[in-house]
Amino acid sequence: MDNIEKKPVKITETILRDAHQSLIATRMSTQDMIPIMEKMDQVGYYSVEVWGGATFDASLRFLKEDPWERLRILRKGFRNTKLQMLLRGQNILGYRHYADDVVAYFVQKSVANGIDIIRVFDAFNDLRNLETAVSATIKEGAHAQIAVSYTLGDAYTLDYWKDLVRRISDMGADSICIKDMAGLLLPYTAEEMVRELKKTVTIPIDVHSHCTSGVAPMSYLKAIEAGCDIIDTAISPFSMGTSQPATEIMVESLKGTPYDTGLDQMLLAEIADYFRPLREHALDTGLLNPKVMGVDIKTLLYQVPGGMLSNLVSQLAEQNASDRYYDVLAEIPKVRRELGEPPLVTPSSQIVGTQALFNVLTGERYKMVTKETKAVLMGEYGQTVKPFDPEIQKLVIGDAVPKTHRPADDMEPELERLEKEIAEWKQQDEDVLSYALFPQVAIDFFKYRKAQQDGIDLNAADTKNGTYPV
Ligand code: CO
Repeated sequence: MDNIEKKPVKITETILRDAHQSLIATRMSTQDMIPIMEKMDQVGYYSVEVWGGATFDASLRFLKEDPWERLRILRKGFRNTKLQMLLRGQNILGYRHYADDVVAYFVQKSVANGIDIIRVFDAFNDLRNLETAVSATIKEGAHAQIAVSYTLGDAYTLDYWKDLVRRISDMGADSICIKDMAGLLLPYTAEEMVRELKKTVTIPIDVHSHCTSGVAPMSYLKAIEAGCDIIDTAISPFSMGTSQPATEIMVESLKGTPYDTGLDQMLLAEIADYFRPLREHALDTGLLNPKVMGVDIKTLLYQVPGGMLSNLVSQLAEQNASDRYYDVLAEIPKVRRELGEPPLVTPSSQIVGTQALFNVLTGERYKMVTKETKAVLMGEYGQTVKPFDPEIQKLVIGDAVPKTHRPADDMEPELERLEKEIAEWKQQDEDVLSYALFPQVAIDFFKYRKAQQDGIDLNAADTKNGTYPV
C-alpha cells in the first residue's frame, strides 16, 4: 500500500452520547464523565459526541441534571477536542415540530454553551425540516453536518442518495453523515455508496452505524477503502451490540495503513479501563441487558430496525395474538409503501408498525387508523420519498387537503409565550428551551432544583430500563 496517498481516518467517539443511549438507556451521568474528560481530551479524536439525542430528556427526567450545565462542564474539560451533538431538525430533541424561533434559539444556546459540530437529521430525509437548524448553525459559526437517515427499500437507489447529498451540499452543510441507526448498511453497499457520494460532493463524509446486526465493523472498513473521512466508534466497554464498533478495533485495524488514525492505543486502553467498571455495574443492576449485545439477525432478514420487531412482539403478546407475527411482518412493507416508503426510524417506525398491526388484527385494512397515520397522510411530517398511495390517502383523510409546504411554515413564533409560562421558574436563559422541549419534565426538574437549593434532599435515582438507539 506504499503507493497509496496517506489519508488518516478521523474518529468521532460516541461513548458520552450514542453508546450509552443505545446500551444503557442514556443513563450515564455527568459525574460518570468528569473523571475521564482530561484523558479523553488528549487522544486526538476528531470530535466527541456528548450531547443531544436522548441525553437531554434523560438528564432532566431520570438523572435530575441540568443538561445545559453538563454541556458547560464538558466544554471546560475538553479544551482541545470538538464537541458534537445530534439534533432532530425541526423536532430539536423533543417529540413534536417546533416553531422556527425556538429551533434557532436552541441552536444559538447550544453553540454558546460549547457545541462545535451539530449533526442534524430528519426521519423522512425531508430537507425542508432541516433548513432552520442548519442556517442557525452556520450563523452561529458552528459546523453543520447533515445526516441522511439510511434505510432500504425500492425508493432508496444510489441515484436517490446522490441527489440527496447534492442538495445537502447546496444547503451549505460542512459535512455529510450516512446515519445507519438500524445497522442495515452492508459492507459492499457501504463501499459503493461512499465511492459514489465522494464523486458527487466535495465535503467530508462520515459513516455512522450500529452493530445491531453484526456487520458494522466490516461496513466501516469498506467505507474507509472507498474514501470515507470520518467513522463513529465507541470505546470498547460500551461498544458493539446496539452501540457502535469499538474504537480500539478500528484504530488497530487501520494501523500502518494509509488510513492510520494515529490514535494512541495505550491512552485508549486507559480510557477503556475507566469505563469497564461502569459497564460491570450496569450489568449487575440490569441496566445493561446482555440481549442488546447479541447479533440480531432478524434485522437483516426483514430489513426493519430491531427495536421495531421487539415492539411488535410485545404488542402482539398484549393482544393475545402472537400467532399473527408473520402476518404483521408481511403487512409492514405494504403499509410503508402506502405511506410513501419513509425510512423506518423514530417516529415513522412506530407509525408504520402500529398501523400494520391494526390492519392485521381488525381484519380490515385501515378500518382503524391511528392519529399519526392520519398526520403522515396529511403531510404534517413533511414529504416522503415516494407519493402516498392515493386510494389509501383518500380512505384515511377523505376530502381534507393535505399540506405540501414545509410543516413549520404554519407555526407561529412560540418563544414569547413560553417565556411567560416559565417566568416563575427561570434561573438561566436556557431554562425556556428545556421547558419548550419537555414542559412537564422541565417543571418537575425546576421544582427539584429549587428543593435542592433550599436544602431539601430528594431521591433522584430512577433506573427504569429501555434503550433507544438513534
Ligand atoms: Co446512532
